[in-house]
Amino acid sequence: MQAILLKGYGGPEVLALGTTADPVPGPEEILIAVRAAGINRADLLQREGRYPPPEPRPEQEILGLECAGIVEAVGDRVTDFVLGQPVAALVTGGAYAEKVAVHQRMAFAVPPNLGWPEAAAIPEAFLTAYDALTDKAQIGAGDSVLIHAAAGGVGSAAVQLAHWMGASIVATVGSQEKAHLVRNLGADEAVVYRDQRFAEVIAARGKGVDIILDFVGQAYWDDNISSLVPGGRLIVVGTLSGAVTDVNLGLLLQKRLTIRGTALRSRPLEDRMQLMQKFISHALPSLADGRLKPVVDVAFEFGQVAEAHEYVARDRARGKVLLTW
Ligand SMILES: NC(=O)c1ccc[n+]([C@@H]2O[C@H](COP(=O)([O-])OP(=O)(O)OC[C@H]3O[C@@H](n4cnc5c(N)ncnc54)[C@H](OP(=O)(O)O)[C@@H]3O)[C@@H](O)[C@H]2O)c1
Repeated sequence: MQAILLKGYGGPEVLALGTTADPVPGPEEILIAVRAAGINRADLLQREGRYPPPEPRPEQEILGLECAGIVEAVGDRVTDFVLGQPVAALVTGGAYAEKVAVHQRMAFAVPPNLGWPEAAAIPEAFLTAYDALTDKAQIGAGDSVLIHAAAGGVGSAAVQLAHWMGASIVATVGSQEKAHLVRNLGADEAVVYRDQRFAEVIAARGKGVDIILDFVGQAYWDDNISSLVPGGRLIVVGTLSGAVTDVNLGLLLQKRLTIRGTALRSRPLEDRMQLMQKFISHALPSLADGRLKPVVDVAFEFGQVAEAHEYVARDRARGKVLLTW
């Protein structure tokens, strides 16, 4: 099969279209003929050699954490899917290829209203945001949520999901154009962080927020802590500005805060399967009827993968960036 292979670790120039052996599905796995795959920030780090794939390390390291395509083969014990069915899946690597094998419980049938790029835009962004808001933040209707990097892949899913769950939303973004996008997705207020400090906007409201979904880390730590209500929950999903910071433990206990980190790829398969099945029964129907929408910014051809990585690295993404065959 054709795949995007790594010539080494480094910049986008190490990504090269090449050929490698087809994956062979295990007894409970399906083989997907990939039509579209999502690009994630983790792919950029893995390309640089800063985010190694989980053990056991694959013989051929291929990037890509999510895809949509057609079921081309099934293992002996597969009961959930049939040949020719359109599916999307969350994988721990290997989606930048013509074929990828995945456990049947990590895939879902693509709702008929969605095309390939839309379907491939769902797994990583929506599952990360869904898990952060539900299991990690224990969101309830009427909660107020501050969502950073809100126009990005995960952020654009988080804004919609929080709105769908009945929360009020303050979103932070880097431009007026992105502010417009997140308001359309359900944010009640959008703060362009280059013009205004979000902590000042929240302080001016007279009440902090119940939940923060943070992708920024270091640069936002102090303002995040000051923006939470007593008993508030900070969920650390990414560390785009850096991962190391000074912590005033006194403030944490005075405000009785909960701080939780989350990561999808490194979790045991059993945990990821449970999350996927919960998402399928709870949220997927709303993607099928259009109440939730994958936000597709742009789809590049697989051969333009280097350009696509540059696009994401330059913070241009408004929603998801995809690769298609
Ligand atoms: N824990 C997990 O399981 C998990 C899963 C998926 C993703 N993630 C992490 O979540 C983060 C977001 O992923 P994504 O796929 O949504 O990325 P994305 O689509 O590329 O969006 C990220 C956006 O964040 C903003 N940003 C970048 N650097 C920033 C900084 N220093 N300060 C403030 N804003 C910054 C940029 O938008 P603006 O123009 O608005 O600044 C950028 O477009 C990444 O760190 C990723 O690794 C974690």
